[in-house]
Amino acid sequence: MKYLVTGAAGFIGANVSKRLCAMGHEVVGIDNLNDYYDVALKLARLAPLEALSNFHFIKLDLADREGIAKLFAQQGFQRVIHLAAQAGVRYSLDNPLAYADSNLVGHLTILEGCRHHKIEHLVYASSSSVYGLNQKMPFSTEDSVDHPISLYAATKKANELMSHTYSHLYQLPTTGLRFFTVYGPWGRPDMALFKFTKAILAGETIDVYNHGDLSRDFTYIDDIVEGIIRVQDKPPSPTPDWRVETGTPANSSAPYRVFNIGNGSPVQLLDFITALERALGIEAKKQFLPMQPGDVHATWADTEDLFKAVGYKSQVDIDTGVAKFVDWYRNFYAQ
Ligand SMILES: NC(=O)c1ccc[n+]([C@@H]2O[C@H](COP(=O)([O-])OP(=O)(O)OC[C@H]3O[C@@H](n4cnc5c(N)ncnc54)[C@H](O)[C@@H]3O)[C@@H](O)[C@H]2O)c1
Repeated sequence: MKYLVTGAAGFIGANVSKRLCAMGHEVVGIDNLNDYYDVALKLARLAPLEALSNFHFIKLDLADREGIAKLFAQQGFQRVIHLAAQAGVRYSLDNPLAYADSNLVGHLTILEGCRHHKIEHLVYASSSSVYGLNQKMPFSTEDSVDHPISLYAATKKANELMSHTYSHLYQLPTTGLRFFTVYGPWGRPDMALFKFTKAILAGETIDVYNHGDLSRDFTYIDDIVEGIIRVQDKPPSPTPDWRVETGTPANSSAPYRVFNIGNGSPVQLLDFITALERALGIEAKKQFLPMQPGDVHATWADTEDLFKAVGYKSQVDIDTGVAKFVDWYRNFYAQ
């Protein structure tokens, strides 16, 4: 099988590419290698992939319409796993237009490529942030997600809408995965676990927002990869008797699906910090601060639908996952 993986130098994209290659598939990975965070980390993720004979990297921007069209025309992909995006809730307050280019134009160039080259299945990254103002827990794909509270979240919800349109108009099978706070080795420097680890090792104070009263459904990277690999093997079929009035927002009369992909058990921020302190053997100096704009109070994934569809539930608990991250961090940064 020949795959396109977008965002192949990114945290999730590099791990998915590695797994697909290990399964014997041919993978073309694209990424624009932007400097939203340390490019050296992106290159380090790519280095072991580029040593594989069934992986090929192309530096390309999603918003390069001709470049993406040419890529699809030349490569003859069967499946697409679209993970490239401008990520980050807080950054979207200061740099909203980066999200228009990468997440809106970029999603459309990928949809167009899939449409014109009869891709079997497009799997793409959505986000738990689409739940926005929702209070009902756990978050379910049955719930309405019409009230995002960051531009990042709005672009991810827009990706689901754009995908539905292409599933309907062109019978393109699409599956959106709402990822819940992914963490683990090779993780992102803009996320809490990385920032806290770096600060604690340097003897610096960590910023604890909403005075610690936050919780997240942290999901370990290997569980995310397993979920993606299983989902991409199951292109959605249309649900013929589906109606807007009676059906769930998670599927459609078109070949369209949306799943939550999370751990299914939220962890309080202070318990998360305790797990990190245990793994590092150092107590953190904490500065308690108010809630940040754009942030949600809590996330918790209802993962029943995903389990029914692919028979997989997340396996890795927070202590194990955080310890694995710390091992990687200490080794990678020689600390
Ligand atoms: N990590 C999480 O907790 C999380 C949670 C929810 C959703 N997501 C989504 O999952 C996907 C992967 O996230 P990640 O954590 O691996 O992020 P990441 O930033 O590590 O990876 C994204 C990659 O996409 C590349 N990229 C960005 N804009 C691009 C463009 N215009 N053209 C080409 N490449 C571009 C970046 O250089 C980066 O390497 C993203 O869509 C993200 O929004 C992640």
